[in-house]
Amino acid sequence: MQGHFISFEGGEGAGKSTQIARLKTFLENKGKTVVVTREPGGSPGAEKIRNMLLSGEAKDLGPRGEAMLFAAARADHVDTLIKPALERGDWVLCDRYADSTRVYQGEGGVDLEYLKLLETAAVAGIRPELTLLIDVPAEIGMARVQERSKTDASGGPDRFEGEAMQVHERRRQRFLELAEEESHRFAVIDGAKDLGAVETAIREAVEAAFEHVLNPANGTTKVSEEA
Ligand code: TYD
Repeated sequence: MQGHFISFEGGEGAGKSTQIARLKTFLENKGKTVVVTREPGGSPGAEKIRNMLLSGEAKDLGPRGEAMLFAAARADHVDTLIKPALERGDWVLCDRYADSTRVYQGEGGVDLEYLKLLETAAVAGIRPELTLLIDVPAEIGMARVQERSKTDASGGPDRFEGEAMQVHERRRQRFLELAEEESHRFAVIDGAKDLGAVETAIREAVEAAFEHVLNPANGTTKVSEEA
């Protein structure tokens, strides 16, 4: 694959969308073509499934059935949007990806081995090179969600936002555990800080992970200096 794939993860109200927009601008200023997308959704087929999931319409299927729908949406998103973009050489910034299923549906009681099978089928080998986990305490995240819903046309909390505070905190712990288990691809960002500080931390993590791609001249200089 020519392109680069970065996923953003975190609980509710972590501030992912704002930070994705800022990272997009940063990369574009470096001459990169950036595709911003989200899950569930991101492609016409997956957006239909998104509506079923977030309205709570699919809740009757139970957590396992919902997990299958998240996987079905992801498969379509990968096939029709993410993979073609990476093949073109674009940078893909995705608001949530497979880790959200591990955390949310895992926390909802779905067997982890079962989730692994679904994930393998859905992602078809397409995995992020870097996952930015924006970590905020559940109370801070949920306070932001409540604030946002005052001005938001969509009305009250969605199917997954409307859970008890302990559920949000357990999801947070699962994300942190995952980041520790797969530390080679995760960067944990303190999302309780102000927007500018979070933006800088993200930029630093991206520059560290993609140093050779973003600053190829540095590598060349070093080699010629040593020579
Ligand atoms: P969204 O409005 O995009 O929320 P956010 O801005 O917090 O990302 O809604 C996505 C919701 O779906 C969110 O509550 C997390 C949940 N979700 C899962 O439960 N499993 C998944 O695999 C994904 C991608 C999202």
